[in-house]
Amino acid sequence: MAKTYLALGSNLGNRAQYLRQAIRALSRDNLILAISPIYETAPMGGPPQADYLNQVIVLETAWTPFELLRRCQVIEQEAGRQRIIQDGPRTLDIDIVLYERQMFSSSTLTIPHPRLGSRRFVLEPLYRIDPALTLPAGQSIESLWRQVQDQSVRLWSNDGSAKDADFIAAASRLTDSLVAADSLDSTNSELRRLWARGDAEDGMAVVAEQQTEGRGRLGRQWISPKGSGLYVSVLVQPQRAMDPLLGFAAAVALSETVSAVTGIKPGIKWPNDGVIMGKKYAGILVEASKTPRPHAIVGVGVNVHGSFGNAVPTATTLDQATEPLRVDRTVLLDQFLRRLAYWIGIWQQARNAEILANWRVFHVLPGAFVQIWQNDVALMQGRVKDVDRYGHLILDTEGGHTHRVTAGEVSVRLADGGYAPIPH
Ligand code: BTN
Repeated sequence: MAKTYLALGSNLGNRAQYLRQAIRALSRDNLILAISPIYETAPMGGPPQADYLNQVIVLETAWTPFELLRRCQVIEQEAGRQRIIQDGPRTLDIDIVLYERQMFSSSTLTIPHPRLGSRRFVLEPLYRIDPALTLPAGQSIESLWRQVQDQSVRLWSNDGSAKDADFIAAASRLTDSLVAADSLDSTNSELRRLWARGDAEDGMAVVAEQQTEGRGRLGRQWISPKGSGLYVSVLVQPQRAMDPLLGFAAAVALSETVSAVTGIKPGIKWPNDGVIMGKKYAGILVEASKTPRPHAIVGVGVNVHGSFGNAVPTATTLDQATEPLRVDRTVLLDQFLRRLAYWIGIWQQARNAEILANWRVFHVLPGAFVQIWQNDVALMQGRVKDVDRYGHLILDTEGGHTHRVTAGEVSVRLADGGYAPIPH
C-alpha cells in the first residue's frame, strides 16, 4: 500500500460536483486518509477563463503511480474533460502531487509534481491537511507555503448544490453485499429479518435514507429523518465469543472514517457515542442473539446534514462541525464500510488490546468527573480513569475506591450537567 497526494481542480460546469465525482470514484478502490477543504482560485496561465475550485486528497492505494495516472485520466474523461486548448478550462483535473517518498521523471509523469512549489492553490490545501509534511528532497511544505502567500486563494463556501440527493442510488452501486432502501422501520430490524430468512451473509449491510422506528441504546428512539443522516447496519457472524469489544471496534472504524473524511478529530464517549465539541453526532447499537444461530448486528447512526438547533441541545451534525463545507454521505458510507470490515476482522481474531489501544486515542472521558445513571437514577459518581480490557469503565469514587461499570444498562453524564467534555 502506498500513500499518495492528489490535487483536484475544476473550472467548468458544476465545479463542486466534479470534485465530488472524483473523490467518490477514487473512494471506490482506495482508502481515503484525508480530504482538504475546497479553495477557489483565479486561473494561473493559459487563456482567460473562469476561477477554479481546488482541493487535495490523500489516499492509501494499491495502484502503482502509472496505474494511478491511468485511473485518474479515466475519471477525468468520465467527467467530460476535453484536451483542446493547452492550460484551458476543464471540468476536472487530477494531478498526482506526491507518491510515497518517490522522485522520478518520465515523459508522462513527474513526481513530485514539478510545479508544486509555485502553486498556492495546491500548497494551501496541502498545508491545511498535513502541515508537518516534507518533500522527498527534504523541503518542508510549510516553507514552500510561506513563499507563495502573495497568490490569493479563498476558502470556498458551498452554495447548497452539494445536497447528496442521489445517496441511495449511489450507495446501491457501492457493493453487492449492501442493500440500500429509501425507507425502513430500522436497518437493524431489516437485516435481522433478512438473516432469519437466510438472505443475509456475514458482512452484509443495510442502509436506509430514513428510518421510521430507528432504535438507540437503552430502548431510546434514534431520530432518523430523510436526507439527513447515515443509518446503516452490518451483519457479523461471530467466530469467537461475543463481547462488548465489537462495539468498540465499530467506534474506532467510525472515528477513523470521520477524521479522514472531514478533517475533524472526533471523540468517543464511553461506551460508544460519537462526539464532537461536547455534543453527540453518532451512536452505535450492537444487537446480538444466539438464535437461530449466533449473530450480531452492528447498527450505526450518524447525524450528517442539517442541525438540531435547540430541539436537542446535546446533539450535533457533521455539517455543523465542517461548515461551510458539506459531507458527502456516499463517500462517508463507502469509507466507513471498508474500515468497519477491517476492524471486525481484528475483533474476529480476538485482538482486543489492539482495538482498545486505537479506541483510547478517541476517548474523551478520562479525567472527567461523571455520574452513572440507570433508569433516571444516579447510581454513583466519580472520576474516569480509563477502560479495562473488557471495555468496562474504570471510575475512581470517593474514599479511594475503584469501580468498574459495564455498558449494558447505564448512561454517563458529566457531573456538571454537560453531555461530554469539550477538548481544550
Ligand atoms: C445510540 O443510542 O447511541 C445508538 C444509536 C444507533 C442508531 C442506529 S441507526 C442504524 C441502526 N438502526 C437502528 O434502528 N439503530 C441503529
